[in-house]
Amino acid sequence: MRFSRGVLVVAGLLTLTAGAKPCIVGGTVTSVSEAPWVIALNTTQSESSSGRYCGATLVTPDKIVTAAHCMDEATSTYYAVQGRANLGDSSTGRVSPISKVWIHPGYNTKNNRYDVAVLTLAKPFTGVPVLPLETRARADAEGAVPTVYGWGDTQDTGPDETLQKAAVPDLGDKTCLANKSYVANGYAAATNICAGYLQGGTDACQGDSGGPLVLNGRLLGVVSWGQGCAQPGDPGVYTEIAGVVNAVRQQVR
Ligand code: ARG
Repeated sequence: MRFSRGVLVVAGLLTLTAGAKPCIVGGTVTSVSEAPWVIALNTTQSESSSGRYCGATLVTPDKIVTAAHCMDEATSTYYAVQGRANLGDSSTGRVSPISKVWIHPGYNTKNNRYDVAVLTLAKPFTGVPVLPLETRARADAEGAVPTVYGWGDTQDTGPDETLQKAAVPDLGDKTCLANKSYVANGYAAATNICAGYLQGGTDACQGDSGGPLVLNGRLLGVVSWGQGCAQPGDPGVYTEIAGVVNAVRQQVR
């Protein structure tokens, strides 16, 4: 299957669509000064006039990490935006075209594994604080409380296309492995993180894909997929950076 701009439904309900309409659900507005390394990965192919499509993270002045499933349009149509809390306000922030795309060679649209990509910025965002990669697998531990950032859909819980954040507790791999449709959709303990609330209400959503899940000042995960957004019993699934760090590091240095 391909990730196009419509809502894709896999195995009944799984939605992995980049940039569709249904920001973060149940989050709060945050500022660029708090999260200078959060990048909007826009494309001229977006259904939104703001270009909103996916999120990403600045990990060196000229490299951003995003989700592989976000890269379904021509490279020339993408542009990275830093420092624009409201995507409708094109008078703010810095913009760079993308000069190179690397998609994890293990990325697989059947099981959604290795959903990570590294993009090179044609015009590096020099002087902007970067987020280091979390390299330790034990950082993905039940009880940790990372924060997810993005401009994605809020399902009317917040303003449109405005940078939001939400704390999403790490539920541990066993929680997602107990959800049959998550197992069917390829949830893997070594390379995924299961985070959110079993009662629903707060989650990443369409348009947040590729964006950062941050713990202790490091990039712990990348927004990958979920079943709907913020639904009870269906937490968010993230690509676990520690599980893909060797391949990613080769691209980043
Ligand atoms: N795949 C979606 C995107 O392209 C984000 C999915 C995250 N969903 C969730 N319920 N946590 O924007």
